[in-house]
Amino acid sequence: MLGNGMSRRIVLAGGSGFIGTFLQERLVADGYEVVVLTRFPHDPNGRVRQCRWDGQTLGDWTSELDGACALINLSGRSVNCRYNERNRRDILESRVNATRILAEAVARSKDPPPVWLNASTATIYKHTFEQPMDEATGVIEATPEAKDVFSIKVARAWEQALNEAPIPTTRKVAMRTAMVFAVNRGGVYRTLRSLARWGLGGPIAGGHQLISWIHEDDFCRAVEWLIDHDDLGGPVNVASPNPLPQRDMMRVILRERGMPFGLHATRWMLEAAAYIHRTEAELILKSRYVVPAKLLESGFKFHFPRMEDAVHEIESRLHGKLSPRPQHSGSREPQSVDL
Ligand SMILES: NC(=O)c1ccc[n+]([C@@H]2O[C@H](COP(=O)([O-])OP(=O)(O)OC[C@H]3O[C@@H](n4cnc5c(N)ncnc54)[C@H](OP(=O)(O)O)[C@@H]3O)[C@@H](O)[C@H]2O)c1
Repeated sequence: MLGNGMSRRIVLAGGSGFIGTFLQERLVADGYEVVVLTRFPHDPNGRVRQCRWDGQTLGDWTSELDGACALINLSGRSVNCRYNERNRRDILESRVNATRILAEAVARSKDPPPVWLNASTATIYKHTFEQPMDEATGVIEATPEAKDVFSIKVARAWEQALNEAPIPTTRKVAMRTAMVFAVNRGGVYRTLRSLARWGLGGPIAGGHQLISWIHEDDFCRAVEWLIDHDDLGGPVNVASPNPLPQRDMMRVILRERGMPFGLHATRWMLEAAAYIHRTEAELILKSRYVVPAKLLESGFKFHFPRMEDAVHEIESRLHGKLSPRPQHSGSREPQSVDL
């Protein structure tokens, strides 16, 4: 939180989507004035101001940056789609163009924000089962088997656009964010819990691939932490300290939902399902072993370091109450069943 006397205005580009919706609520609750840059302004609750931009050209929106205490950019076409030529272009250009035009606007600002948090992705790191990827030693490299060549190209170009911004008085942070687990629709957690509900929550393609993730509360707290800590800059992994194999993640969700088993799925079954649902298998096949070294070294404390607690908290809210941990009969673990 900022001290008295400083501006409390945060400009939140792309703040109308899945993450932006809960982040703006948190920022407002913590006393910030939030201005969302969006291509489609409307006034849902009047608690945040919405300002029109197109994510690629300068306009009246640039004056919002003058005197703002922070800029956060979450803009980008969703990656939850088939990677055909048109979607690939939109995914890349929406991220790079938005970052470039924000850089230009900050560079022209009379009183630029002292800090800019730009979205990036934990997917930037190499597919791995063994080597934890922190900001200092993590390897950035595509693995054709993980089908991540395009994603890594996007992530590199996205961060490069931020790095190239000629804005010496603004601290730049690339938030290499893992899958965010949240109550809201549109995120990965709601998909995973419906898989579990239909008995489809077993290991996929062996289930050894590591899942990096973060609870929405810790994501919002990390954002405020990064705003407040002047010594943090460059790439920062925004992920819980405990990634876990896909099969263990699903076991946690199955147990919390009281489901006795989840069906196994092979790689080709996932590929077929991804095709039918107009998405890409990479989102679940790639092993992401990402650790938040900079956050931990700077003293950040996660409220939800373990997935059991994160899933329990989210399920409690989805059921409209913060209930005690459900009692399962004996110590029975959910079983996996081959199809
Ligand atoms: N969700 C996750 O778990 C996760 C994990 C790691 C990284 N990220 C990254 O974090 C960012 C936010 O994620 P999210 O899940 O909140 O995404 P989202 O729900 O798809 O929202 C992204 C926002 O970007 C804007 N946008 C879409 N296409 C655009 C374009 N062509 N030009 C300018 N703006 C455009 C949209 O705002 P308007 O339509 O209002 O203009 C939209 O609200 C994304 O860049 C994503 O890649 C997300």
